[in-house]
This record gives sequence, C-alpha cells and structure tokens, in this order.
Amino acid sequence: MAATELITRNWKKKDPSLKAYEAAGGYQQLRKVLKMQPADVTAEVKKSNLRGRGGAGFPTGMKWSFVPANNPKPRYLCVNADESEPGTFKDRYIMEWDPHSMLEGCAIACYALNAHACYIYTRGEYKFPAEVMDKAIAEAYAAGIFGKSVLGSGFQMDCYQVRGAGAYICGEETGLLESLEGKKGWPRLKPPFPAVSGLFGCPTVVNNVETLASLPFIFEMGAEKYAALGTPKSGGTRLIALSGHVNKPGVFECEMKTTLRELIYDLGGGITGGRKLKAVIPGGSSAPVLPASNIDIAMEFEALKDAGTMAGSGAVIAMDDSTCMVRALWRITRFYAEESCGQCTPCREGTPWMTRLLRKIEEGRGQPEDINMLLSVASSIAPFPPMGLGQTICALGDAAALPVHSFLQFFRAEFEEHIRLGRCPFEKPWGSLGEGRFQ
Ligand SMILES: Cc1cc2nc3c(=O)[nH]c(=O)nc-3n(C[C@H](O)[C@H](O)[C@H](O)COP(=O)(O)O)c2cc1C
Ligand code: SF4
Repeated sequence: MAATELITRNWKKKDPSLKAYEAAGGYQQLRKVLKMQPADVTAEVKKSNLRGRGGAGFPTGMKWSFVPANNPKPRYLCVNADESEPGTFKDRYIMEWDPHSMLEGCAIACYALNAHACYIYTRGEYKFPAEVMDKAIAEAYAAGIFGKSVLGSGFQMDCYQVRGAGAYICGEETGLLESLEGKKGWPRLKPPFPAVSGLFGCPTVVNNVETLASLPFIFEMGAEKYAALGTPKSGGTRLIALSGHVNKPGVFECEMKTTLRELIYDLGGGITGGRKLKAVIPGGSSAPVLPASNIDIAMEFEALKDAGTMAGSGAVIAMDDSTCMVRALWRITRFYAEESCGQCTPCREGTPWMTRLLRKIEEGRGQPEDINMLLSVASSIAPFPPMGLGQTICALGDAAALPVHSFLQFFRAEFEEHIRLGRCPFEKPWGSLGEGRFQ
C-alpha cells in the first residue's frame, strides 16, 4: 500500500533549513492565518477533527477553546517534545527533518490562542534534534517569523527551547510545566487544568510536536478535506513508529483507516525470519496488548478504544512467536517502576511490586497465587479497563497497570505454564534483563 505524505513530504530532501522549507511552500499557511480572526483559526482546527498526537487523543480545537477569554494573564503555548514512551520515536523525525513545519504550527497556535511565548520542552536525550531546532528557531527570528512582528503582521511572538534532564514523567503535561518552572517534574492534581492555570499559573496549552506540525496542512487543504482523510471523529493522517520483530521498522505516515495488518505486513515488510506474529502493542508500551488475531483493526482512536486498547502515542510494537510474554511484561513494568515519580502510594509501591512478582514468575520461582496478586496490585493502581479513571494523580499509574491487565487477559496460560514448569519455556537470546533497582 502507498503511504500518504503530508507531514513526511519534506523528509526525503534531508534538508531542515528555512530555505528548503520556504521553497516547498513553507510559512504560506501562517501568512494566511495571520489575516484571519484568531477565533476563526480555532474554529477551523475544530472542524478538521484534529486530535492530539501525544497520547490522550484529545480534540485540539476544543482544548484551545478551554482557555478562558476573560483572563487578563499572559497565555503560553508549550510544545511537548519529551517523547519518552517506549516504542515512540516519531517526533524526533519532525524535529530533525522538518523543524520549520512544527515552528509554523507553533506560530499558528500562538496566534489563535493570543499567546506571545512558546516553550518547546525537548527530551534531555535528544541532543541532535535539539541542535536542529535551535538552528531553526534562530533562522525564524532572523527572517522575521518570530519576534516583535510575525511576518510583518504586528503580532508579537517569542519562541524558546528548553532541554529536559531525561525523565518520562516530564512528558506528562503538568510534570512538564513543573519542570519548565525549574522544579522537580511532579505532576499536579487536576483541576485546575493547564488551560486555566498552567505555566507560572497562567492559561497554557500543551501540545505534542506532531499535533502542531499537522496544523499547516489544515489551512493548506481546508479543514473539511483534512478531516476527510480520517474518520468522522478523527481527522488527518498520523505518524506511526513501528518497531519490534518486523523487517522494516521505521516511521510511517498513515491514514486513520490503515489497519495494523497493513502497517506490519505492507509498510513494515512482515515479520523477521518469516516467523508468526504473536502480539501487537498498538500505541506505545502503556497501551493494552492485542493478540495477533486482532490485527485487522484500523489504527484509529475510536476503533482501538472499542477493541479495549488505545492509539496512544502512535507506537506499534510487533512481537513474534518467540517472545516470552512474561519477560516482555516484566521489561515494561520495570520501566514504569523506574519512572514513577513517587507521589501516589499505589504507583510508587505497586509498580516495583508488580516487577518483583514478574521476575519471580520468569525465573521459575512463581506460585499459582502470584497471578491473582499481580492482578490485585494492578487493580489497586488502576482497575481494568481504566481509560483515565485510575486512582492516581497522573496517567503513569494507568500506563503501568494496563499492560498487566491485558497481558494476563490474553496470555494468562503462558504465565501459568511458567509457574507449572518452574522455568521459562522460551529461549533467551538476549541474556539477562540487566541489573535494576526494581528487579
Ligand atoms: C507519563 C506520561 C508521559 C507522557 N509523555 C508524553 C510525551 O512524551 N509527549 C507528548 O506529547 N505527550 C506525552 N504525554 C501526554 C501529555 O500529558 C499531553 O496529553 C500531551 O502532550 C498533549 O498534547 P496533544 O493534545 O497535542 O496530544 C504523556 C502523558 C503521561 C501520563
Ligand atoms: S501516578 Fe505515579 S508518576 Fe503519576 S503522580 Fe502518581 S506516583 Fe507520580
């Protein structure tokens, strides 16, 4: 199948300069938007059915309209370039190969929100993408795109990039705001939501890199045409980062109707070594796993939600039949235990507890009651299926509990077999999982 090229269309040039972006028609949509009323810009984004690409999939235009019109404080736009969900690596491509598409999106969003400052919060480990972004921001200032009068319109806007120190929790929007304020990245209790009280207590919108990079296309194509690329509730295309046991891992731009099968077998070239597909995680490591029999499903927010999982951050991880599901879940759980910020007792205590139970089962020391204990600990963090109804301050708790529920829902027999045999029935080609605090 042919991949659709909107967000990816400038990548092949491998030239992230302003000159290349402008030669391909860049910043023409910002010029168009600057002649519109800010409220009409938001209305157009609403009409496009663009949903946030950072994980929660919240409608972008609606999020913008939650910023109170009568609050006299300054407003801010924050770009979430933290990209730390295991399996997710799409935003870095935008930053490396087409940074101006995101910057054009930032300027469009700032104009619509009447925000005069934009903060790009970039993952600490993203040294190269951050360097490309810094260069692109400097080019935009030099060309009069940012500064006192954006493209001569009289609208003032500044743009700053801030590097994180490398913590997954700083991708959670309120953890990000705390970190931007120079504090420890502990998520805040909501409400108030950032749209009302965000950065420095001022109205703030936090948007993902891809969400913002999608904005120019809405104005280039028109909202209806953009929306028509998707489904009735979810417009446009989206980037999917495909990894795991596939022949051609990478980032693919897909229409919402693209199925997991088409992604894995057509775009991703099938399973390595001609093996059988066993399971797929469709939206980053926090998304509930699906067995291979479910892969004729479209990679779209509603369809995946109906299947009991989620589109999340657009990261598809394919696992072949050599994969030990106990070991895979142990690895995932260990990540969340390491990254828990420790504010909520169920998450702080539960994530290492689940990790220890999984290690015990994988190493052949498991007892039959460990499986129910695992489910009980996961339920105390977030009952299944929680979908945002967890017992914790932020959704990292849900992210840690959902995989446990879903792995046991579909692969319980494998966990029982480990316990019955007193060993892992699979080969371990990669050796030990390494030493860690929560093993
Ligand atoms: C633990 C955790 C980590 C997150 N990490 C990211 C991230 O790296 N990038 C991102 O865009 N959103 C991340 N999110 C989602 C953000 O909180 C937020 O929903 C998103 O940035 C909003 O942008 P969007 O509406 O454009 O999707 C994370 C959420 C949680 C709970
Ligand atoms: S759920 Fe976990 S990561 Fe989120 S605030 Fe609570 S302890 Fe911190």
